Amino acid sequence: MILNKNNLFHITTNDTSYLMRVDETKHLVLEYYGKKIKDVEDYSAYYNKWTFGTGCSVINNKELSKTANLDIMTLELSTTGKGDYNSPSLILKNNNGYVFDFLFEKFIINKIDGINTLKGLPTPKEADEELVIYMVDNASKIEVELHYLVFVASNVIARNIVINNKNEETVHILKAMSYELVLNNNNFEVMNLYGGWAGEAKKEWSEVKHGLLLNDSKNGVSSNRHNPFFMVKDKAATLNHGEVYAFNLIYSGNHSEEVECNFISLVRIMGGVSPFCFDYELKENESFETPFGVLTYSSDGLNKASQNMHHFINNHIVSSVFRNKERPILINNWEATYFKFTQNKLVALAKKAKECGIELFVLDDGWFKDRNDDSAGLGNYEVNEKKLPQGLKGIAKKINKIGLKFGLWFEPEMVSENSDLYRAHPDWIVKHPEIEPSEGRNQFSLDLTRTEVQDYIIENVSNTLKSANIEYVKWDYNRPISDFYLENGKTGEFFYRYMLGFYRIVSEITKAFPNVLFEGCASGGNRFDLGVLCYFPQIWGSDDTDAYERNFIQSGLYLGYPQSTIGAHVSAVPSQSVLRTTQIDTRFNVAAFGCLGYELNLNELTPVDIKAIKAQIKFYKAHRKLIQFGTLYQFSFMEKANHSEWMVLSSDKKEAVYGYFNGIQTINPETTTVRLKDLKDDSLYKFSARPQEHNLKEFGGMINYVLPVHINPSGFLMYELTKHKTMGSEKEEYIVSGDALNNGALKLKQEWSSTGVDENVRVLLDFGSRLYYINEVENSNK
Ligand code: GLA
Repeated sequence: MILNKNNLFHITTNDTSYLMRVDETKHLVLEYYGKKIKDVEDYSAYYNKWTFGTGCSVINNKELSKTANLDIMTLELSTTGKGDYNSPSLILKNNNGYVFDFLFEKFIINKIDGINTLKGLPTPKEADEELVIYMVDNASKIEVELHYLVFVASNVIARNIVINNKNEETVHILKAMSYELVLNNNNFEVMNLYGGWAGEAKKEWSEVKHGLLLNDSKNGVSSNRHNPFFMVKDKAATLNHGEVYAFNLIYSGNHSEEVECNFISLVRIMGGVSPFCFDYELKENESFETPFGVLTYSSDGLNKASQNMHHFINNHIVSSVFRNKERPILINNWEATYFKFTQNKLVALAKKAKECGIELFVLDDGWFKDRNDDSAGLGNYEVNEKKLPQGLKGIAKKINKIGLKFGLWFEPEMVSENSDLYRAHPDWIVKHPEIEPSEGRNQFSLDLTRTEVQDYIIENVSNTLKSANIEYVKWDYNRPISDFYLENGKTGEFFYRYMLGFYRIVSEITKAFPNVLFEGCASGGNRFDLGVLCYFPQIWGSDDTDAYERNFIQSGLYLGYPQSTIGAHVSAVPSQSVLRTTQIDTRFNVAAFGCLGYELNLNELTPVDIKAIKAQIKFYKAHRKLIQFGTLYQFSFMEKANHSEWMVLSSDKKEAVYGYFNGIQTINPETTTVRLKDLKDDSLYKFSARPQEHNLKEFGGMINYVLPVHINPSGFLMYELTKHKTMGSEKEEYIVSGDALNNGALKLKQEWSSTGVDENVRVLLDFGSRLYYINEVENSNK
């Protein structure tokens, strides 16, 4: 809801208030952002109060105010040249130089129907209301619109700016952040997600000290280096308590986020398109739109801030066709075959997948002409008839006949030097005319700023999608951009225009094929962001499928993104990423908190592993809606506690799935206490462990303590035995009250510690895990 009183704006969501006003110098300032406060007659008590200017400072306009010093004001739009010495959110340059001062002109409030959609960038869907504030720089006549979209139930405000040049003179935009706000608190810590290939979304915690913290990407995409999502939290805030602000950006290109604490300990936070190599020329009557930034606040710790973001993404980012729609369980042939496959091999894999209960078969890289390794073939997508003699139509038919849907991998934004497309259009790649372009993974980036390249990709991908019954697409992107260049001195617009090209392509293709499920991928999570999610409902989280490593990656992603958007697969062991061996159930337990897939050769597994997979899929299908769309909680982080705990809770609070993931097993382990949140205090719940099986190899020679005959733990007999026989995990089931679960009264069975094994010993091992299903058995009627 947006309240306006004499140019004071009080934006409220279910739990938050955002309070701004136009001050006596006509600047727009933030007076409060936090837990929802009441509407009152007179808000002046909440204003920042300046009764004298600080030394060494500039007074903006002494006629209007003797104290208005932009350097210490909580500006919603900051510029250069008028006494603000913090990092500005808007840097412009015209013939007069860099001096700009934007003052309030007017505002409008739009109800649902009037909400603006951006012309070339993704816009969040179905906002409740929109506030547009117009600010003008009187000398240059440049106008800046500040748009605030309100999403009441998500507790989210999305903000962007639009710059309109109403002057004959051209202006250069050197920096234009989407959102900016200044908070009165110097007790903050920043949590951002950093990483690299196969090691995405690692949490970094930095104390906010006087000075500037920067989180950005410069490689052309939102990147695995620094995700645009981040949190600014009170140092004392925990997972379930304390104040947390969270931010994201609906954009997939270079981005930049800043947190600056100034000399009077005001903290200015901003985010948007990165100013790195950015220089956008705006001629008379032209406009420039920034992507939307996304802001939320929680007074109940990190979980609530994440849940706000999840609600927003599930309801206002993901396309309506896939909104809250259950995602299929897939088998992907990549780690099963890599480039070496035949039609028969694929069909055999699909048959086994069907037997296990899998629903979708994804044919990954290597299906098209010349593509037998990663050195050739990208760009054309004509089927390789040696591998697929009946073409895509033929293989899709065979897969459909087995009873699975058929999905296909593409990497449309790229071209291999050794390809028909490159030979025909060497000028279509991103490069400087006089500089030898550099390759990444043996390929070049196609120049998506060019309309003919966009048209080619749209047509090429569309024709392939029409050629067979393809119901899923994995859209990959495997190298960062280098050698960026645009003609006529416009290179400063390259990265932004690349994104406009990308969004035009994916918007046209997804509109033409609305029922095809697209999964984004960029060597895993190199482009895991809200821009991609506007078109592709899910994104492959990481090429690292080792269950322990994935635990960190998914836990980081969950802070900003819901589990329904994260592709998560069970792979073979030892893991190709780190050569670690984890139990098949642990690999499932981690992947189960996402869009589940399998990516291994099912035909090379033992009967006991196939049995385990069948049981996993049965469990996942039985609870899929809850797992994919339930409210997600984290109760501990692996990096802090040597274990992690995740839970999904249904909206009616009648059922939950709780996962416990062990780090390194220690001797004399502590008692595990279960302390959950938000179950119904007065209800009774059944809490039961999903049965798992132990591979006998886990116990080595100790197996002889329970066997009637002695066998050699390294011998053939043991090898044969482990293919067919397993040992059941502990049995654990309780009837407990909701308040007991919420307050840590329930204790789990003792962990293994040089003991014997029976149904009362919880044998977890290094990286072991359990899932527990919790369902209400006696209703509290609340
Ligand atoms: C990238 C993806 C992988 C796989 C390969 C195929 O690395 O992240 O999942 O599709 O490309 O080349």
